[in-house]
Amino acid sequence: MPADRVLITSEQIQTRIREMAEEIERDYAPGPIYLVSVLKGSFIFVADLARALRRPNIRIEFMAISSYGNAKTSSGQVRLTRDLDVNIEGHQVLIVEDIIDSGLTLTYLKRLLEQRRPKSLEIATLLDKPERRVAPVAVKYVGFQIPDEFVVGYGLDYAEDYRNLNDIRILQQ
Ligand code: PRP
Repeated sequence: MPADRVLITSEQIQTRIREMAEEIERDYAPGPIYLVSVLKGSFIFVADLARALRRPNIRIEFMAISSYGNAKTSSGQVRLTRDLDVNIEGHQVLIVEDIIDSGLTLTYLKRLLEQRRPKSLEIATLLDKPERRVAPVAVKYVGFQIPDEFVVGYGLDYAEDYRNLNDIRILQQ
């Protein structure tokens, strides 16, 4: 399946990430910020966002959640496949996602992490597909709102392919 229609160029992504980082730096009190990257899709975004942030104590942690398998739409079943290995109690935590679609993944994750009593818990997503929302979820930092198209690249996959593209492309049906 070809993915040749560019929706967001790598330059646009990098510009927006710098703006998001400035906003985050303004909002957060000095001290560590725990970036919780939700694998696999957000691994490239978190790498760029972390480097755009200026304070030295940006802590990068990973969780893995599975909901899609190899399908193109959410199965609606969210499964934790890798938990954090740090205690986030009392810390500033920012969940970093590549895309919010139905909102089911983040609703599950937010509830799970709230129970661990972080000082604050917010969400940063590169992409948001508001038309697809099933579960409403408050997202503080959004890179781009996009239409309801299946997108790949910059960490996002279709059946594990295309994650390595520098830009975000629409997968042709
Ligand atoms: C994608 C994405 C989010 C989730 C969003 O992950 O990274 O975690 O789907 O969808 P939702 O809002 O409908 O829950 P995916 O399950 O494709 O796994 P991956 O990140 O490993 O590619």
